[in-house]
Amino acid sequence: MFFKSRTHTCGELREVNIGENVILNGWVDTRRDLGGLIFIDLRDRYGITQVVFEPNFNKEAHENAGNLRGEFVISVEGKVRKRPEGTENSSLATGQIDVMVSKLVILNEAKTPPFSVKDEIDTSEDVRLKYRYLDLRRPKMQQNILMRHKMYQLVRRYFDQNNFVEVETPVLMKSTPEGARDYLVPSRLHKGKFYALPQSPQQYKQLLMVSGLDRYFQIVKCFRDEDLRADRQPEFTQIDVEMSFIDQENIFEMVEGLMKILFKEILNKELKTPLPRLTFDEALEKYGSDKPDLRFDLEMVTLNHVFEKTSFKVFQDHINNKGIITGLLAPGCGEYTRNQLDVITDYVKKLGAGGLIWMRVKDNDLEAPIAKFLTEDEKKNLINSMNAKAGDLIFIVSGSKLKALSIMGSLRLEMARRLNLIKSDSEPKLLWVTDFPLLEWDEQTKRYYAMHHPFTSPRLEDIELMESDPSKVRARAYDLVLNGSEIAGGSIRIHNADLQAKMFKALGISDEEAEHKFGFLMNAFKYGAPPHGGIAFGFDRLAMIFANENSIRDVIAFPKTASAVSLMDDSPSTVDEAQLKELHIKIR
Ligand code: AMO
Repeated sequence: MFFKSRTHTCGELREVNIGENVILNGWVDTRRDLGGLIFIDLRDRYGITQVVFEPNFNKEAHENAGNLRGEFVISVEGKVRKRPEGTENSSLATGQIDVMVSKLVILNEAKTPPFSVKDEIDTSEDVRLKYRYLDLRRPKMQQNILMRHKMYQLVRRYFDQNNFVEVETPVLMKSTPEGARDYLVPSRLHKGKFYALPQSPQQYKQLLMVSGLDRYFQIVKCFRDEDLRADRQPEFTQIDVEMSFIDQENIFEMVEGLMKILFKEILNKELKTPLPRLTFDEALEKYGSDKPDLRFDLEMVTLNHVFEKTSFKVFQDHINNKGIITGLLAPGCGEYTRNQLDVITDYVKKLGAGGLIWMRVKDNDLEAPIAKFLTEDEKKNLINSMNAKAGDLIFIVSGSKLKALSIMGSLRLEMARRLNLIKSDSEPKLLWVTDFPLLEWDEQTKRYYAMHHPFTSPRLEDIELMESDPSKVRARAYDLVLNGSEIAGGSIRIHNADLQAKMFKALGISDEEAEHKFGFLMNAFKYGAPPHGGIAFGFDRLAMIFANENSIRDVIAFPKTASAVSLMDDSPSTVDEAQLKELHIKIR
């Protein structure tokens, strides 16, 4: 169909254009028929312009406009005029003018969409995902996609200016499962063999350091077949970074420089650097999490010293078993009803707590089911340690260290929700968490796993503990945490074959297995590997927080559902028998 290209976008016309003849192309957003007049809000990526069909101005165009429906694609030609007094719309950038249409071309009709293309729609996410192309027409989604685009450009420019080289690494690689499950791709040419999709380009970026590239970055898709949550997708994007001849401080400085720019350009906020840091142990003890949300205070307090000589059996047992007694103050919650307290107790029990101890703080006293087991000194000490005032509520959880602290950490978040401590305009809180343990013991398989990945260097002063007390070894690993979400993680790497062999030994990986899985990297290290380290950002998570969304699906153009399905193109799907045969695959 013949049509003339636009002279302006739908977000462009202002009072200075009054009197001009213009052509606009776009979608019918809304249509209002007022007696003889038809008003159309015409929409494109750039905004909305009101166009008017009036029989006296142009009879034919007015007649044609009677056929228009929502989401029709049209081209209009007409004259810009000042809107009649009292009909201006200050919420639109183009709200001072409208366009009197002299010519209408319908470029394409549209079926009635399954939901209206508006921000404030009440539609299930499944329907939005099935018709994602329509969902992406909504202004908020367009903003998210455009913000993401801006982030890409800022990231690329920053790393380029700092001498980083962008290198693409393979998407078909060797399966080296550590951490999450691999997505596998069967080989047609090599019967019974598989490629894996990278969980991250970790080994490649280390190899690029051996190659002397010195500074690498990549905005890259990663694939992990793991259980999904609001902030996890099976394929997601990292900003992947690696540097040679550096220590942790250099990486922090580089990352903080990038975050400063993103805060300024995306959020219009000045980020103060250097960023605060917490060690893993501190974060766990004060906030019950290795990704603490610091937008609100509520700090947990370790109370072992208060109950050192207690006769209260539960506490006694936990102290004797090297456990922990941790407390949380809920300010002003002293009047919570028994019912409210039961609900909160159920909440922690579901997380695996044996129970929850609560105490109402009165003037110089405590009212609680367990109060009778405590001495006056213990009560006084407890009130002081918790910095509690009359009218407050104290929660106590006790048990093995990691478990009790992380349960209390969850309760801390739950109380913040109940007390509405996180406001939509709360200042974003960014921090480093450092000194993660190198190894994590898994009760089920009775072996250690690398908490980060097997190439992470232990702190040099802890190397001797790798054989004698592996759980005590700290890693040169760090996470960047924004508003309680882990947005980046990295480490200084092992660059020496002997230390790497020690690490494999601690992980219970035999020489043969190490050779089979990681031989190519180990070999490379024998040819002069520089000291190196890096980090990777979860790009989608960062975008989600910047866009003030609760799910990373809202900042990804075509995401999968929580069960890893794409509702739009219906993948995963079955394939032809012939395709399977070629791949030497039989479905049982
Ligand atoms: P890590 O596994 O910590 O480190 O991943 C880096 C960051 O990626 C994000 N992320 C995810 N985002 C969405 N969906 C997922 N399924 C998902 N999994 C992880 C997180 C995380 O902080 N190679 C190392 C980095 C390094 O050591 O340099 C790595 O991949 O925000």
